[in-house]
Amino acid sequence: MADERTPRLEMRGISKTFPGVKALNNVQLKAWGGEVLALMGENGAGKSTLMKILSGAYQADPGGQLMIDGTPVAISDPIAAKQQGISIIYQELALAPNLTVAENIYLGTEPARGGRIDRKAMREGCRPVLERLGAPFGPDTVVGGLSIAEQQLVEITRALHAKSKILVLDEPTTALSSRETDRLFGLVRQLRADGIALIYISHRMAEVYELADRVSVLRDGGYVGTLTRDELSAESLVKMMVGRDLSSFYTKTEKPQDSRGPVILEVQDITDGGRRVKPCSLQLHQGEVLGIAGLVGSGRTELARLIYGADPKTGGKVALNGSVLTVHGPEDALAAGIAYLTEDRKGLGLFLDLPCGTNINLGVIERDAKRGGVLDLPAGRRRAADAFKALRVRAASPAVTVGSLSGGNQQKVLLSRWLETGPKVLILDEPTRGVDIGAKSEIYRIIDELSQRGIGVIVISSELPEIIGTCDRVLVMREGHIAGEVGGPGGAPITQENIMAYGAGAAAQAA
Ligand SMILES: Nc1ncnc2c1ncn2[C@@H]1O[C@H](COP(=O)(O)OP(=O)(O)OP(=O)(O)O)[C@@H](O)[C@H]1O
Ligand SMILES: [Mg+2]
Repeated sequence: MADERTPRLEMRGISKTFPGVKALNNVQLKAWGGEVLALMGENGAGKSTLMKILSGAYQADPGGQLMIDGTPVAISDPIAAKQQGISIIYQELALAPNLTVAENIYLGTEPARGGRIDRKAMREGCRPVLERLGAPFGPDTVVGGLSIAEQQLVEITRALHAKSKILVLDEPTTALSSRETDRLFGLVRQLRADGIALIYISHRMAEVYELADRVSVLRDGGYVGTLTRDELSAESLVKMMVGRDLSSFYTKTEKPQDSRGPVILEVQDITDGGRRVKPCSLQLHQGEVLGIAGLVGSGRTELARLIYGADPKTGGKVALNGSVLTVHGPEDALAAGIAYLTEDRKGLGLFLDLPCGTNINLGVIERDAKRGGVLDLPAGRRRAADAFKALRVRAASPAVTVGSLSGGNQQKVLLSRWLETGPKVLILDEPTRGVDIGAKSEIYRIIDELSQRGIGVIVISSELPEIIGTCDRVLVMREGHIAGEVGGPGGAPITQENIMAYGAGAAAQAA
């Protein structure tokens, strides 16, 4: 198709070596104007690194070549990339929260008049683009108060304002609701029609099907190949990404209906005074995998945070194995045997500057501190090494900092931290967000294994296939209360329709 024309972007023979890791090895990539090129691959495959080379954030090893519209260019830093019309929207957004929308858009290129920054010109200059994109905020809004979707919109505005010819979106939908995702897709299509070359990184197959004209795949830092839209199939993509067939994606051991274990966790009328969570009650059985479905914003995370003691409850109680817990904070919950994997790994979960090993051991340290235990360093090292192996964490060793890992591998480190505490109840909030397809199936296998060992697992997820594929029973939340239940002995079958009926979402769940 597009191959007759000169590519807007061509990368050839790109390699990148970090201390101890060859992140990219002789990679190639072509992208044309007016198309969406999806870039796929497992966690740590090198997608973000390749794009950081394109954006001037990293320098490639010598020997590679980068061409724009057929002309070789050198991109020595982010400013050079900008001059070449390259914009990137990172996995972790990169705006200055204290500045206004206009200030962020003009950052580094502020217009001056009479030796001062011309604020009026800035305001007026970005207004047309904001209007065109239908932004629900103006140039003077302070960015820190905007939602993640809105901050993304600011970044896109900045890219358009800089007249970008190449726009990279690195996992843009991980923190968006389905409505926000739809809106973003509309924008992406609009930009494609304008002739921009879009490079779209995602782990979500459904998004790639919906948007991509072509898909290029990386594996272990190498280039595997490219499929056009007509050649796309889940099977071929998975095989290219993982290097093998994934025969059983979901692992759920069906439990006989009458074999349900005793209630391990009982929550009664827990509430934050009705702010986000109206009085909610639930029972979790030993060895049960209980899903909590519902739209983004329905109160799922807030409910979990009340149970775990991360937010104060104004009423209700939590009992573990029949005895009521006094939970003043997460340490108490953890000491009692309840672990909670947060959905926000950057804000709440991980210490990015500390080694992976330390992060993995933190949960145990916290738990043992509460019990008055002492630090056992060799055991800690062993624990970290075992966790690395069990979850197939891709990094040189547990000694490297979490911040240097790819997004999905960070998630695995966070998960191992909680597994190492040997919990009786494990609450997983969006456990596979940003996690690649191989690691996903690994996490599903672990959930199944934990439940077989008698641990009660609660899975909060926006991905219905994930809920359906892993859970024995599902509660559906809506507007802060539990609106219904499917599955379990005598319950309605766990299907998309049955769950959505309670979620009252005509607005379809995120795929
Ligand atoms: N600054 C860095 N220092 C050391 N190693 C790094 C650094 N950045 C990336 N790496 C390593 O390079 C490899 C590729 O990482 P990259 O972030 O490009 O993966 P990715 O394909 O974007 O993965 P994900 O899907 O998880 O986001 C990984 O092994 C990662 O640990
Ligand atoms: Mg990445």
